[in-house]
Amino acid sequence: MDKNKIIGTGLTGLVGSRIVELLPQFSFENISRSTGVDITKKEIVLETIKNSSASIVLHMAAKTNVDGCEADKQFGENGEAWKINVLGTANIVEACEKTGKKLVYISTDMVFPGDKPLGETYSEEEMPNPKNWYATTKYQAERLVSAAQTPTLIIRIAYPYRANFEKKEYVRVFIDLLKNQKAIKVVEDHYFTPTFIDDIPLALDLLLKTNQTGIFHVAGKEAVSPFIVAQKIAEMFNFDSSLITKTTREEYFKNKAIRGFNLSLNNDKIEKLGISLTSFSQGLEEIKKQLV
Ligand SMILES: NC(=O)c1ccc[n+]([C@@H]2O[C@H](COP(=O)([O-])OP(=O)(O)OC[C@H]3O[C@@H](n4cnc5c(N)ncnc54)[C@H](OP(=O)(O)O)[C@@H]3O)[C@@H](O)[C@H]2O)c1
Repeated sequence: MDKNKIIGTGLTGLVGSRIVELLPQFSFENISRSTGVDITKKEIVLETIKNSSASIVLHMAAKTNVDGCEADKQFGENGEAWKINVLGTANIVEACEKTGKKLVYISTDMVFPGDKPLGETYSEEEMPNPKNWYATTKYQAERLVSAAQTPTLIIRIAYPYRANFEKKEYVRVFIDLLKNQKAIKVVEDHYFTPTFIDDIPLALDLLLKTNQTGIFHVAGKEAVSPFIVAQKIAEMFNFDSSLITKTTREEYFKNKAIRGFNLSLNNDKIEKLGISLTSFSQGLEEIKKQLV
């Protein structure tokens, strides 16, 4: 098996495409619906992974739209969120077990309930207790990965943001709106520690090089709310901050998926291996430099 080759799902997505851009030392083999592999179809997943010389499977494919997943909850195990996120992962796990490949799974801060007071963080040792359906499916997938009979690594990330990609996450959505002098109403009572996207390939490379297994958090060092994010953007880009007004989770996420109060992740475990993760303020400076 080729140690420098990674076969991956979700490599065309927001996170995956940046991993491919920043880790040229690896060769990547993409599997997605666009290459004819739907991860919910077991036989094709098994065949494709068996036929690959890669020693690592990086599994990122998921239904990632949190509110879209919530709408699937009524369909339970027959809904798309469960099929892609849980059954799809079960197929990947089985293929890794059959081939002895190492499995790296990308998960989320949302597996935690988010009921900690501000200033506290969740460590890898703490028990998840997801509050919405997306997070429930991601946690079920984590459990399958952790129980796999092959070496596994779970990397939990939080609200990743990046400068350039066709799918715009919240940071670029806020930048665009404020730049165009549009008023925005943003949540003030939902805190998280956003992952600067370039830290994900950095962490992945380190974790693979040092042959780690188990769970690692890879998030920013600073807890922010969408309201703080918008304010920091206005300050950094000299936009009019009077365009930003506050709302609450209760109002904003009404009839949507529940989000916890404080999802902040603790990064000590990975930082002890020798990397320093980017705070949101530093990340925003990088975004400003990278924006094209
Ligand atoms: N973005 C976030 O805010 C965030 C936060 C925390 C954790 N995460 C996790 O990070 C990972 C990557 O997220 P992302 O935002 O980069 O994802 P994304 O941009 O939404 O991309 C999703 C990827 O999954 C693939 N995919 C979806 N359904 C598939 C299927 N049935 N079979 C094969 N491939 C399928 C898509 O490829 P095709 O459409 O070509 O098949 C696409 O490459 C996910 O596991 C997500 O749960 C994301």
